Amino acid sequence: MPAHLLINVDHVATLRNARRAERPDPVEAAFRAEAAGADGVVVHLREDRRHVTERDVRLLAQTVRGKFDLECSTDAEVLAICCDVRPDLATLVPERREEVTTEGGLNVRTASERLARAADRLHDAGTGEVAFFVDPVPAQVEAAAEAGADAIELHTGDFAEAETPAAQQHPLARLAEAAATAETAGLRVHAGHGLDYRNVERFFEAAGAHVEEVSIGFAVVARAAMVGLEQAVREMVRLVKG
Ligand code: PXP
Repeated sequence: MPAHLLINVDHVATLRNARRAERPDPVEAAFRAEAAGADGVVVHLREDRRHVTERDVRLLAQTVRGKFDLECSTDAEVLAICCDVRPDLATLVPERREEVTTEGGLNVRTASERLARAADRLHDAGTGEVAFFVDPVPAQVEAAAEAGADAIELHTGDFAEAETPAAQQHPLARLAEAAATAETAGLRVHAGHGLDYRNVERFFEAAGAHVEEVSIGFAVVARAAMVGLEQAVREMVRLVKG
């Protein structure tokens, strides 16, 4: 079975917010991503609301036709919104205000009680599936299973940052081992962070055996800005030059 592709539209919201405007709207981007074949949509409702807002999340919950994955921390207010919205998938992620993007996986071993409580609340509220975002470390994967996760999302950042095939070997071996551990523990396996047009095939070849789903955002939004630019300029040329 080919893996499912979920598109993260956070950075469409980043662009919108740069002008405090209404467009580009991540809800429209989600609609277009699904029209182009994506299996679902991901957003991260951050505590500081730096890109996606509560309005976006509520509209996406009503309009995404495939799988809606809401990434959130265990912050009380964000968790309450997530419980109310009941996404198909809630992915619990660590969050630090000063980070540019999510920097590492959850430390499930040290925060297992807090994460187990959050997973319970999300399940009780009717969330379809709860995933923990973890580094590819078997002990973290096992701790996620014990804390009540249905799935893990493996952090692919170390692999994505490796610049040569030789440097990719070790991160890929860690991802493959963590995925196999998850399979044995009865967890579904998702993956994401830094996957792009150059590395995604290599990821699946070397570590994709148990991976059911990937979440990709930045690379797709960045490429859309480039491949869409010519059409956007042509339309403006027509208006200005007739
Ligand atoms: N998965 C998680 C948990 C993330 O935090 C992110 C980044 O928002 C992604 C996947 C997608 O990463 P990228 O934007 O680099 O494709």
